[in-house]
Amino acid sequence: MRAEQTFGTRRFDPRFAHRRLSRRRMLKALAGGVIASAAAAAAGYGYISHIEPRWLQVERVRIPIPHLPEALEGLRIVQLSDIHLYPYTDLDLARQAVSLAAAQRPDLVALTGDFVLKSAEAIDDLAPVLAQLNPRLGIYAVLGNHEMWLDPAPVMAGLARFSIPTLINRGLHLGVGGASLYVAGLDDGWSGHPDLSLALAGRPADAVTLLMAHEPDLADETVRDGRVHLQLSGHSHGGQVRLPGVGALLLPFMARKYDQGLYRLTSGSGGLWLYTNRGIGVNNPPVRFGCRPEVTLFTLMHQVPGSEVPPGQSAPAS
Ligand SMILES: [Fe+2]
Repeated sequence: MRAEQTFGTRRFDPRFAHRRLSRRRMLKALAGGVIASAAAAAAGYGYISHIEPRWLQVERVRIPIPHLPEALEGLRIVQLSDIHLYPYTDLDLARQAVSLAAAQRPDLVALTGDFVLKSAEAIDDLAPVLAQLNPRLGIYAVLGNHEMWLDPAPVMAGLARFSIPTLINRGLHLGVGGASLYVAGLDDGWSGHPDLSLALAGRPADAVTLLMAHEPDLADETVRDGRVHLQLSGHSHGGQVRLPGVGALLLPFMARKYDQGLYRLTSGSGGLWLYTNRGIGVNNPPVRFGCRPEVTLFTLMHQVPGSEVPPGQSAPAS
């Protein structure tokens, strides 16, 4: 006798029940896969747009310098770069960065440009936050290409109101316990007229020399001069998106050679440390992946002749 049952108006044959069930399972699995993929994509987008861009990292870098005077041994320099306040980066992230910077107990703070992104007047909100750092040897700034493209004057004035000088092709000699420290800055390399000779004109011959230059690729010229010990730069944002085994997907003009981290450049018998900071803020598209925003602490140390250089990247000057 044939086993056949009727359900409603459709006839159900138990012999084919497994086919119906497996089709239903397949549809369910497919829907589950689509939902999981959408959730993963949403989580991924949430991570690159909301989590990593606000996930500040403190980088600590030792800088060995031959014949470093004892008074400068252990000198602590904090660098903040590319804050790009508004609209993608808010004041709260800048406050967090300043708080982390203060926790490093810096002797000196270097601000390497691109404070703003869309409006030069954003500096009026940012400068008082930066000024809270108040290190014993002062805070110094250079401008970035975005200040140049907007209007550099209100940015410089905004910083000056809080006693933060902008060093455009000039430097300042600081006496530190009988030792000489020279802090210099270059004009923006993209839209200005950087002049290293002018910037170093007042440098005492024996001064340990720090140069701030927004664009890192200017270092090829710096190392040929031979008088600078450490160049601090930003501008690259590290590329904002870095893939394992690939590196940065996109880098701006003048940050394509030295895109992040510490480099040792040499020219003749001289050498230069270059550090390219990944910055704090973002440009459009406002995302970061594999490239956390950073607050960087440098500690100067005496370089023992023949000793190993600290871990980091190295590249010959071209
Ligand atoms: Fe820049």
